[in-house]
Amino acid sequence: MKLALPLMLLALACAPAADEKEVARLPEGPGKEIVARICMTCHDSGNFRKTRFSSDEWSDSVADMVERGASGTPAEIEAVVAYLAKNFGQDSPVRINSAPFAEIKVVLGFTVAEVRAVLESREKNGTLKSFEELLKVPGIDAVKAEAQKPRIVF
Ligand code: HEC
Repeated sequence: MKLALPLMLLALACAPAADEKEVARLPEGPGKEIVARICMTCHDSGNFRKTRFSSDEWSDSVADMVERGASGTPAEIEAVVAYLAKNFGQDSPVRINSAPFAEIKVVLGFTVAEVRAVLESREKNGTLKSFEELLKVPGIDAVKAEAQKPRIVF
């Protein structure tokens, strides 16, 4: 009994559960639960959501993660690669209402201040409904945002 608590804490420290809100913000679709379970224990979703890869590149990236310690059955790994290639493929847009910090910053090239303003607006006013609403977020550079318009979905 004396050992139980420290052991439990150790187990938690090794495999922190993915943040529920962050999991909820992942795009819906087959493979989502598996990604949440095996790709968000060492780092948050920013690592893969800020990335835009082809299917082959995702395959390599996931193999690299398996070497680093990610684990799943072959079928689960296949489902993860399919999910990532579908939602974070080379031409995948940024879901501005659910994207994490890193994805907005890296994929759209927004500055730290602009990303913060978007996140703050999301928190305070809820979902942004249109590109016009995005332009009204204080501090957004309209010219730069316009250039990224085809990559942004609401
Ligand atoms: C055992 C720990 C662990 C797990 C589980 C894990 N990763 Fe990683 N991942 C890392 C480390 C360590 C890095 C490099 C440091 C960093 O950026 O946080 C990394 C970085 C990344 C990167 C950035 C590119 C790079 O090579 O630096 C991507 C993309 C990525 N991981 C995707 C995934 C995906 C997809 C999964 C689920 C299949 C996953 N990771 C699961 C440890 C892990």
